[in-house]
Amino acid sequence: MAAYEYETHTYDAIVVGAGGAGLRATLGLAEQGLRTACITKVFPTRSHTVAAQGGIAASLGNMGPDSWQWHMYDTVKGSDWLGDTDAMEYLAREAPKAVYELEHYGVPFSRTEEGKIYQRPFGGHTTEFGEGPPVQRTCAAADRTGHAILHTLYGQSLKQQAEFYIEYFALDLIMSDDGICQGVIAWKLDDGTMHVFNAKTVVLATGGYGRAYFSATSAHTCTGDGGGMVARQGLPLQDMEFVQFHPTGIYGAGCLITEGARGEGGYLTNSEGERFMERYAPNYKDLAPRDYVSRCMTMEIREGRGVGAGADHIHLNLNHLPKEALAERLPGISESARIFAGVDVTKEPIPVLPTVHYNMGGIPTNYYGEVLNPTKKDPNAIVPGLMAVGEAGCASVHGANRLGSNSLIDLVVFGRAAAIRAGQVVDRKAPNPTLNQASVDACFDRFDGLRHANGTTGTAELRLEMQKAMQADAAVFRTDKTLAEGVEKMTAIAGKMDDVKVTDRSLVWNSDLMETLELTNLMPNALATIVGAEARKESRGAHAHEDYATRDDKKWRVHTISHVDGAKVKLSYRPVITVGLTTEAEGGISEARIAPKERTF
Ligand code: FUM
Repeated sequence: MAAYEYETHTYDAIVVGAGGAGLRATLGLAEQGLRTACITKVFPTRSHTVAAQGGIAASLGNMGPDSWQWHMYDTVKGSDWLGDTDAMEYLAREAPKAVYELEHYGVPFSRTEEGKIYQRPFGGHTTEFGEGPPVQRTCAAADRTGHAILHTLYGQSLKQQAEFYIEYFALDLIMSDDGICQGVIAWKLDDGTMHVFNAKTVVLATGGYGRAYFSATSAHTCTGDGGGMVARQGLPLQDMEFVQFHPTGIYGAGCLITEGARGEGGYLTNSEGERFMERYAPNYKDLAPRDYVSRCMTMEIREGRGVGAGADHIHLNLNHLPKEALAERLPGISESARIFAGVDVTKEPIPVLPTVHYNMGGIPTNYYGEVLNPTKKDPNAIVPGLMAVGEAGCASVHGANRLGSNSLIDLVVFGRAAAIRAGQVVDRKAPNPTLNQASVDACFDRFDGLRHANGTTGTAELRLEMQKAMQADAAVFRTDKTLAEGVEKMTAIAGKMDDVKVTDRSLVWNSDLMETLELTNLMPNALATIVGAEARKESRGAHAHEDYATRDDKKWRVHTISHVDGAKVKLSYRPVITVGLTTEAEGGISEARIAPKERTF
């Protein structure tokens, strides 16, 4: 057994991750007087939410008529009928409240002439239950909305006396023998000390796993740490095959060019200068949902109408927009285009390509953020003491495809929901649990094994193999052949984890070891993605299967549940929740209104 000395910390609630969801949960917990700490591997305001650009969806109706029912309908349709109806209703109903709270906390939103929060159009957001024109629903702080939210939430959390453990890397969950989460263990990166956090509830807010792919808009820190921790405890992941490609990553660099650029009037063209989205989506054109736009771009390129020397990308045109509008509404992407594509957006188009952006799948939860461990008897059974929110979680509001700007609202609505739920279930007066020492020891054994790993494959080499396989075989379009090859490759790659080589054995600022630990988190996420995709014989949302071109609601309107053990993945399925929180008589949407139908734009 590996012997590491550690310091023990005791709290009511521990939040792992300090992005939008983690900070909103931290703030909500601390506001209720719960002893709360947030553990984060990067400084809070450097979390990936800082890169969120275009905005946060809520039916405020500042720019024209809107309603939470229309927002809910768009989310249901956007999810390609794989989202859970109760969670989608909760999201759309709570969204305005959550945004006004942000405003009152001090988020510097852009403003209309009358001083209201400015809202822009985003893909898939419409009026009249998808029958009317696009709606301006996405609340924006120029094109730096995530930055504005993150800084505000961090300041407010400090004001509420939440404690922060910054540059602490969470290693593993502590679980009791009967499956209750008791806390988490973390490694302090700058001095090498170990820390055991005993908590009555743990909230995982660790973000997505975009870095399982070669080209992603995600920060290098997006390594699916929460998913990795959960998988190691034998708990499942859900709907991992649904990976979103954002239509406009900068060609070559992968950096995000916000959908807000098309919301403000930008449009895509092919090598013939054609605005091809008019052909594919006559009603919503460039503002069709992301999965659809990404597929149309890929088809244009495949059919020889890509731009550039290799005819392998597409142009995003903004140069017809007034210079003042670009400076006021899109200053950030104007700068990104200059730095990463060498383009002056007032004069030239930006070269763009669909780029991995978001994971619809994650740790299964209910709409309170409580983690699920579905059984045959109870598909909604929870794991006591454990919650997951934000991109790490899967509530599931995004189903098979997320609408743009529904991510930031997911972060704050469900970060807030988890805090409210914890306030109800955590007994402040009860003593903290007696920790399961076997669980603590197992974590240190694993850590020590990796620290001294002496195989033949370096971490960077193995990570690159994984990223290339995922990029090639779990792409925008998938086939039986590519997916079967992908499963074979990824099984072999995951098997090589046992042969990994770590060269630095120190404990202080050991980035070699940290990246290896991150790779052990990326790997189960990537495996579950490819295996889940290979098994799903239909096309739905972001899962575009060329051998099964249509959606099959009879067989496949189910959530994929994957248990990952080393290089093995076991799949089972869980029913989609099709009933909302309120009936039509209570102001909700009727089941008939949101019944599955063909998705047209
Ligand atoms: O395009 C964007 O600004 C991204 C927004 C989102 O993913 O929600």
